[in-house]
Amino acid sequence: MTRSVDEITGGKRLRRMRKADWSRRLVRETELTTSDLIWPIFLIEGENRTEAIAAMPGVERLTVDLAVKAAEEAAKLGIPAIATFPNVAMEKRDTTGSHSLDADNLINRATRAIKAAVPEIGIITDAALDPFTDHGHDGILRDGIIVNDESVAQIAKAAVGQAEAGADIIAPSDMMDGRIGAIRDALDAAGFQDVAIMSYATKFASACYGPYREAIGTSGLLKGDKKTYYIDPANTEEALRETEADIAEGADMVMVKPGLPYLDICHRVKETFQIPTYVYQVSGEYAMIEAAAANGWIDGERVMMESLLAFKRAGCDGILTYFALRAARLLKG
Ligand code: PBG
Repeated sequence: MTRSVDEITGGKRLRRMRKADWSRRLVRETELTTSDLIWPIFLIEGENRTEAIAAMPGVERLTVDLAVKAAEEAAKLGIPAIATFPNVAMEKRDTTGSHSLDADNLINRATRAIKAAVPEIGIITDAALDPFTDHGHDGILRDGIIVNDESVAQIAKAAVGQAEAGADIIAPSDMMDGRIGAIRDALDAAGFQDVAIMSYATKFASACYGPYREAIGTSGLLKGDKKTYYIDPANTEEALRETEADIAEGADMVMVKPGLPYLDICHRVKETFQIPTYVYQVSGEYAMIEAAAANGWIDGERVMMESLLAFKRAGCDGILTYFALRAARLLKG
């Protein structure tokens, strides 16, 4: 007794609406727009100079003047915000990351230059200490331990310096306990009530950050790993508790990082807290797509757009992605 397809489906045929481009567009549930994109860029000292990053083909470190040009281009395409990450000169790095407090460090100089030339783009800065430490950790290292409270005090000071330079959103990626509340207090005390905080609320101890460490020059420095402060990739409940704590401390927006391997976390965070939720499609994810595309194994452009759409489908309000400029150009048509 074989049943007909109509008997099996009860006449429900989901292919009906898939039959043409117009009908697929009509039933499309999520959409990626340029307003969803945040573009992370890497900074170096000097003028009118770029440096290639071996593990991130198509991404370059930029001197501040070229970062200004990049920000102009991003703004023209409608990208709402950029996030800056500095490759700090080795002689400026020390065990406490003290140069993070220098009003004239590379991050702050770039912020001032971009603010002056492209006031319409949002600037997101990271207050973690890793670009400034000679051991590559996000906090202060003492006797083999990343000390929490001392790190928080310095990160909060660095955040105020970034706000003074003109940063619109402080995004601390260090995962120290209490940093969001401490940064909020410090910003408010300095008169920066309008500077927002995007918490890297659920940052996992992932193997996907390698190319980024090449980009900011920490891969050769890093001793040990970051498992004492980043979240275990196995843990969902802990990620939710961390997010809840950061929201209670004053985070305006939260982030999940990395991206595609943690789509379930994106979904759970958005569903649980209904707060502006962002995802960081990190350097290793970028590198994997680029490497496969370079080998001709995948259509890089289509995989790029599919990965970005997946974040929207999972519930994210925006995506930090090294593809931002390329995706924005594609979306513009
Ligand atoms: C550290 C930091 C990391 C990234 C941004 N800031 C991770 C790390 O180096 O451990 C990763 C970004 C990426 O991989 O694209 N504060």
